[in-house]
Amino acid sequence: MSAPVRWPAEALWEAVVPRLPGFTVEILPEIDSTNTELMRRARAGRYEPTLLVAERQTAGRGRLGRTWHSAEAGEAGALPSLTFSLGLPLAPRDWSGLSLAVGVSVAESLQPVLPAPGTTPRIGLKWPNDLWLSDAAGDRKLGGILIETASFHDLHNASTTSPGAQATRYVVVGVGLNVLPRSPEGLSTRPGCLQELGPLDAPTALLQVAAPLVALLQGFAAQGFAPLQDRFAARDVLRGRTVVLSDGQSGLAQGVGADGALQVHTAQGLQAITSSEVSVRPTAAPPA
Ligand code: BTN
Repeated sequence: MSAPVRWPAEALWEAVVPRLPGFTVEILPEIDSTNTELMRRARAGRYEPTLLVAERQTAGRGRLGRTWHSAEAGEAGALPSLTFSLGLPLAPRDWSGLSLAVGVSVAESLQPVLPAPGTTPRIGLKWPNDLWLSDAAGDRKLGGILIETASFHDLHNASTTSPGAQATRYVVVGVGLNVLPRSPEGLSTRPGCLQELGPLDAPTALLQVAAPLVALLQGFAAQGFAPLQDRFAARDVLRGRTVVLSDGQSGLAQGVGADGALQVHTAQGLQAITSSEVSVRPTAAPPA
């Protein structure tokens, strides 16, 4: 039998609780999906700020109703993927660009400085919710983000909400990252993994990512996506590439706006793509 994974639960809690009173960390050996579980709890009226980590998901979910397949555990006991969801009440003025903001936070926590082209793989962001690794060998999907929200009923504060303020919702930010190399079988995009960047394991990666993510979500609630636009642009893997939208149109990706909408120059002119129903894929590798 393999040794149990050592999670830094206390260090995670200590790093986050000053920003998020009532915060708890839960590590489960197995669950259907960390997002599903926090959404279930929210629907049952449980809105505690929670970091829920699963060593294995049996029904992981991706965007647009897709399945998120974690890699199968290897012999050595190291976790092949990091899968977690962070749930907390949030009341941003504008929710647009949230998955992009989360991508910026996770990418920067794992790779604070973008390496020069042609050296280590860069962590890039593919609108709206993918983390990619890119280098001369091409693009690989490192991970993905799934954000869901549930309505929030705070009986204590119901009367203090000022007119015009956005309603608080319970937001569940789910993140799945490949840690170890995995087979590309059944995946639409070739997979990359954290170990291409160095000897990172799932617990260490989680400790790097969690507290900055909470801080960024709180900053996002106050200021929205606009202050993060340039940081997204620095890692935008679609910019300058021809993309195909799931509605059949194609065009040249020209970055994201201050609201997080993808700007695509199509035959119909410049379009701002915001729909969560639209998926985008690049047609070819970017120019060298
Ligand atoms: C995507 O690539 O479409 C998003 C994938 C998100 C996967 C993570 S793993 C933790 C959390 N629980 C889930 O069921 N999904 C997210």
